[in-house]
Amino acid sequence: MEIKIKKATELKELPEDDSKLGFGQIFTDHMLYMEFDRAKGGWGPAEIRPYGILGLEPASACLHYGQIVWEGLKCYRTSEGLRLFRPRENFKRLNRSARRMCMPEVDIDYLLAALKELLKLEARWVPKTLGTSLYIRPCMIASEPFLGLHKANRYILFIILSPSGPYFKEGFKPVKILVEDKYVRAAVGGTGEAKTAGNYAASLKSTDEAMEKGFSQTLWLDACERKYIEEVGAMNMAFVINGEVVTPPLHGSILSGITRKSILEICDHIGIKAVERRISIDEVIECIENGTLTEAFGLGTAAIIAPVGSIFYKEENYIINNFEVGPIATKLYEELTGIQYGSKPDIFGWIEKVEE
Ligand code: PLP
Ligand code: COI
Repeated sequence: MEIKIKKATELKELPEDDSKLGFGQIFTDHMLYMEFDRAKGGWGPAEIRPYGILGLEPASACLHYGQIVWEGLKCYRTSEGLRLFRPRENFKRLNRSARRMCMPEVDIDYLLAALKELLKLEARWVPKTLGTSLYIRPCMIASEPFLGLHKANRYILFIILSPSGPYFKEGFKPVKILVEDKYVRAAVGGTGEAKTAGNYAASLKSTDEAMEKGFSQTLWLDACERKYIEEVGAMNMAFVINGEVVTPPLHGSILSGITRKSILEICDHIGIKAVERRISIDEVIECIENGTLTEAFGLGTAAIIAPVGSIFYKEENYIINNFEVGPIATKLYEELTGIQYGSKPDIFGWIEKVEE
């Protein structure tokens, strides 16, 4: 299938200073656009077109019933060119999310080839400084106009690009997290495992209240007992207890993070014991108090590795590692970003070149 390219007539100015890039605020000149129509036999060709307004009818199904799935991955500038980190994992997850939301799957090879074409055209937008990257946001929405409650027959998939710096204003410094014991994000059997807009909508009230109190994000507990650690708003969670990295298992209500999966593999390779097991908030508090929990950090594409300096639970604030970045978070950050930015060899075969 061919990829059509319609170039923008006027190009935007690049951000002046990489160090001032926030997260997801600036968008490049072009985007990828594809339409699906069941009546026409599926997906049409991908088109690269100027970044701009989507033509959506007010009755479009996504606006009413939330058939929206999306992904987040990054393109890095390395001394050997532009690189993607495990993009096929993102597209596989996009397809899993799509299946859960009764949406059409995409051809991963074709979408990756189309994304590479877009990145080649937008290469000048990939920032240069270590720690910055071009954040890639693929998103699929139901575009068919109707108000009956059933899956749509028409969809749009678009990919937009945003030169970005650190997700948290703190950068690679500890953040403060609030444990949420009133609201829940997702229950097993629901859509928590899918990367779908509704999960994020469900998290906003808690995040908003947490931010108003000076916390960066919410740490979710399980929806049934409000007892077991799930994940943080935009990242998976890991703790270091007795020198072991512990992260909650993937049991259906949390996102199967690609950073989490990569960190488990890196730990295995460098000889840090890492386990996936249920961990209760009571255990976390007890281990902070008896000194066996020495580090906590979030894991995610946007957040990379985000050290957690304190956990607030039931009106008590528990400080972790004197609110300092710990040695295991530092080591894992160096290993992961080393592979992403090309200063360490890609021993796992995770890197995909944009240009051969
Ligand atoms: N959990 C949630 C809710 C997220 O939004 C993200 C970010 O994508 C993650 C976890 C981490 O996933 P990944 O490492 O694939 O970015
Ligand atoms: C990502 O890391 O790509 C995410 O999806 C988190 C998002 C809320 C920015």
